[in-house]
Amino acid sequence: MTENSIAELTQKIKSMAPWHHDIHLFDDFTTGKVFSPDGKLDRAENDGVTLISPRVRYLQQLDQIYPEGMSDKSFLDCACNGGGYCFWSRERDLERGVGFDVRDHWIQQAKFVQQHRTVFPTDRIEFQVMDLYDVPKQNHEPFDMTYFSGIFYHLPDPVTGLKIAADLTTDVLILNTAMMLDPNNPRGLTMARESRTKVMSGVHQLSWFPNGKESLRDILLWLGFKDLKVTMFNERKDNFRSRIEIVAARESGRLENLNGESLT
Ligand SMILES: C[S@@+](CC[C@H](N)C(=O)[O-])C[C@H]1O[C@@H](n2cnc3c(N)ncnc32)[C@H](O)[C@@H]1O
Repeated sequence: MTENSIAELTQKIKSMAPWHHDIHLFDDFTTGKVFSPDGKLDRAENDGVTLISPRVRYLQQLDQIYPEGMSDKSFLDCACNGGGYCFWSRERDLERGVGFDVRDHWIQQAKFVQQHRTVFPTDRIEFQVMDLYDVPKQNHEPFDMTYFSGIFYHLPDPVTGLKIAADLTTDVLILNTAMMLDPNNPRGLTMARESRTKVMSGVHQLSWFPNGKESLRDILLWLGFKDLKVTMFNERKDNFRSRIEIVAARESGRLENLNGESLT
């Protein structure tokens, strides 16, 4: 890479801001380092968007789920944003990946990374601008693993939304969502209204937050998953927007090698 082409790429990445995913492109050049040499960026300096670098944690988890790699596996990323999880899955030799997001802003970033990332292959992945509710019209072949992160609480009907993803999943689904904890009604959902113009929000203006892990457990069991593990639970003391990650598998005992707390 010449200094000129690095300067051009830097300029282009800046023009595509804000970025949510910090993704390694080549040498020590990452999409996040364009904005912050240490990968840390105040939300206020990034149009209210958090810059995240979850690659290492994601790959540790993926290696526990697929210790043999993903060379015969397919992956669906719902609300893929800049495509980070597709690219990190491709690092484990992913056979087929689809990432979609309702916003062209993010899909442009994913396609840009696909073009300029040289540290690992970026082929075998398709990105689409798509609303989750339109996915059934695509007649996709089922996927071994589905990533459903940061979208449950942006949907006017999250159970239908999660069912769309689950119905396309043959093995493992990872659900990561914000919550509004209510110990008096842990099986409930709390309604909220949200902007449809903020780049990280939904587009339907109505959304629902789970009130406890019990509500998510019951929905996932109803969707036919038999093994559930909580792999992250971040309880906020102000009880607003706590966060949970649950890995769900179709087969009982499938997650015995995954670190986490059983929820079944
Ligand atoms: C909080 S971000 C999560 C991004 C990514 N999944 C992650 O975990 O890093 C929410 C994302 O959901 C997308 N989104 C919101 N509603 C959607 C919908 N109905 N269909 C597809 N994507 C949606 C937004 O455009 C945004 O990229």
